Parts: sequence; structure tokens; C-alpha cells
Amino acid sequence: MVSDRQLDVLVICGSLRKGSYNAALARTLPALAPGGMRLRDAPSFASFALYNFDIQNETGFPHEVNAWADAIRSADGPIIVSPEYNWSIPGGLKNAIDWVSRMKDQPFKDKPVALQSAAGGILGGSRMQHHLRQSLTSVDALLFGRPEVIVTFAAQKFDEKTLELKDQTAIDMIKLQLSAFEQFIRRVSAKE
Ligand SMILES: Cc1cc2nc3c(=O)[nH]c(=O)nc-3n(C[C@H](O)[C@H](O)[C@H](O)COP(=O)(O)O)c2cc1C
Repeated sequence: MVSDRQLDVLVICGSLRKGSYNAALARTLPALAPGGMRLRDAPSFASFALYNFDIQNETGFPHEVNAWADAIRSADGPIIVSPEYNWSIPGGLKNAIDWVSRMKDQPFKDKPVALQSAAGGILGGSRMQHHLRQSLTSVDALLFGRPEVIVTFAAQKFDEKTLELKDQTAIDMIKLQLSAFEQFIRRVSAKE
């Protein structure tokens, strides 16, 4: 029963950059998570080909796409931590969602999902999250609402050298979101 066991939460990072603030944000989560939740990193989607039905049709879903889908299927709920690119979802992340959306056993179906972002300015992240909510609704995910986590002005809130998150307000908001996401997963998965 999902109501009384430790939850298995998958962390998907939307940035591929080595010095990524979003990857740094993702790394802070295990220390801030409630005891009822264990976090693990999703496999990378960096090597995914651009989605093309011909590939799917001729050779099937690539191994790395299946591995990403399996990781989502086996989790109680993913958290997607992603930057905003040009007011929207980074192409690599959107491409990964496009791939798995074509699967029969579509991994996001009925999956509780929470969103987080780190951004350079004040608005970055919010438009991406809005668009990501739309795409994830199209694949029947169950979107967690609030509290939202957007670490604005990231360069001021992460340590320049270690990329450790230093901002107490952001840390407190993340803790609140993770606790509320745990309750959300237990509530929406209650029948399992
Ligand atoms: C292609 C591209 C597009 C971007 N577009 C936006 C944008 O629309 N809004 C925004 O706030 N930041 C934008 N940025 C800045 C990113 O939010 C910033 O570089 C952020 O640090 C990237 O996340 P990361 O550090 O996790 O890699 C863009 C960056 C890139 C590379």
C-alpha cells in the first residue's frame, strides 16, 4: 500500500549543462525530503535521438528511451527540475516526453508529478512550468499544484564555487513542497 510505505520519487533534470543550477537544485532535494520519501535520479535523456516516427516504426523504441520510461513507471511520482528556454520547455526534455508519449504503456499516465525550476531572472521558470503542465496533462499525468518552487535570481542563491543552495527562503519552500507532494502522492495513489 502506498499509504504506509516509503515513496520512491524520481528526479528528472531538464538541463544537460555541467554547471547547471537546476542540477544543483536537484542535488539539494534528498537532504530536504521528508522521511517518507526516497529520491533517485532518472537516467539521462542526453543521447535520445530527435523523435521521429520512422525510428519508432522501423526499429522500435531505443533502449535509452525504454530505460527512461521504465524509471518513470517504477516511481511513485517524478519531480521535474528544469530551466526555461525561450519562455518554454527545453527541447531535450520535451523530446524525451514526446518519445514516451507514444508508448502503449505510457509512463506518465496517472503519475503524480511535481515541478521545480531555477532561473537567472525573476520570471524564468514560471512560463516553462505553465507549458510543461499542458504537455503533462496531455499524457494524463496528475499535476501537483502548490506550493510552487522557482528559485529566481539563481546566481545569487547558489554558492558560486560549490553550487550549494544558500537561500533559506528557497530551502523552506522546497521542504514545504516535498512534504505536500508526499501527501499528494499518497492521496491520489490511495487505491494501490
Ligand atoms: C537556449 C536558452 C534559452 C533561454 N531562455 C530563457 C528564458 O526564456 N527565460 C529565462 O528566464 N531564462 C532563459 N535562459 C537562461 C536560463 O534560464 C539560464 O541559463 C539557466 O541558468 C539555465 O539553467 P541551468 O543553469 O540549469 O542550465 C535561457 C538559456 C538558454 C541557453
